[in-house]
Amino acid sequence: VSPEQQRMIEAHQFCLRYFQHLLLNTEDGEEGLQYLEGRGFTREMIEAYGIGFALPSWDALTTLLSRKGYDLAEMAQAGLVIQKEDSNGYFDRFRRRVMFPIRNEAGTVIGFSGRVIDTEGENAKYMNSPESPIFHKGKILYNLDQARPIIRKERKVVLFEGFMDVLSAKTANVHNGVASMGTALTLEHVQKLKRLSNDIIVCYDGDNAGWEAAKRAADLLHAEKLSVEIAVLPRGLDPDDYIKQYGTEAFRDKIIGEPLDFTSFMMSYSKRNKNFQYATDVEQYVEEALQYVALDSSAVKRELHLKQLQQETGITQETLTTQLRHKEAQRR
Ligand code: GTP
Ligand code: MN
Ligand code: MN
Ligand code: MN
Ligand code: MN
Repeated sequence: VSPEQQRMIEAHQFCLRYFQHLLLNTEDGEEGLQYLEGRGFTREMIEAYGIGFALPSWDALTTLLSRKGYDLAEMAQAGLVIQKEDSNGYFDRFRRRVMFPIRNEAGTVIGFSGRVIDTEGENAKYMNSPESPIFHKGKILYNLDQARPIIRKERKVVLFEGFMDVLSAKTANVHNGVASMGTALTLEHVQKLKRLSNDIIVCYDGDNAGWEAAKRAADLLHAEKLSVEIAVLPRGLDPDDYIKQYGTEAFRDKIIGEPLDFTSFMMSYSKRNKNFQYATDVEQYVEEALQYVALDSSAVKRELHLKQLQQETGITQETLTTQLRHKEAQRR
């Protein structure tokens, strides 16, 4: 690390302690603490994860950093403060937000994500640190520093959509979870994970955005030769919602414990929003499903998937098999 990066890292460490102090020891932080308690965070969790609170102020942190001798231009580069447009003054980036530190693989705090405590108003729900000399969004996987030994031991990693889900899953004793920082999964993420484990469970939100993102992640992971399974949530729920509604045990046993294999998920994905009363929908489904069945390396699984297709669509085994042979031939 360069001296500049080192100073930025120190500043983040300082901010973490400041945010934690505000959350835990001040009256101004009480609304943050109430928010976290409402979401089931215990004091232990708050301390373990380094969660804090940023004041509803335009200059509290800016003033403090300046007083402590940090160069504000550098702090702006680090994403902790923002330069005013019409002057050379600075103001706080994070205001009235619950602050979650983001650590790199070595466990060093290199960014923050701040969550609003009420969703009224037009503030974005989450505000993340911007790209900086120490924070690279497309590389970071939340919780990888903590999860790494567990991923190695269990030979499995669970990929969530949001870091809140990672934290919630820990209450269900799922400690091998990671999440990207609101970005789509990148090749860099995949390569990091691949070094630790060959098996991955994708557990994204049960809304349309989550299904789309899971499909893209699964395609990428499969293309990169990982063994990928997809844990599917009931419509409209994310892992955190599910745990709150059905409990930690159900989450472990029924969701993480019973994921779909890659082909089954892709068939489910293709089936969404299709109506088999329409011939074109049936045709499209069979077409898309067979494309993935052809990719399945297990002959037994291919046959089971074909059987499922027959039951769902009423298309005969003969037709399906012929079509599948076409697909397989195309792949060669
Ligand atoms: P909660 O609503 O607090 O339970 O969070 P969530 O984890 O359910 O968030 P959601 O599913 O909406 O989004 C998943 C991830 O996308 C979050 O962890 C963030 O990293 C990112 N994200 C969501 N909303 C925003 C936003 O408004 N701005 C930014 N920059 N990122 C966001
Ligand atoms: Mn760099
Ligand atoms: Mn979501
Ligand atoms: Mn979510
Ligand atoms: Mn959520």
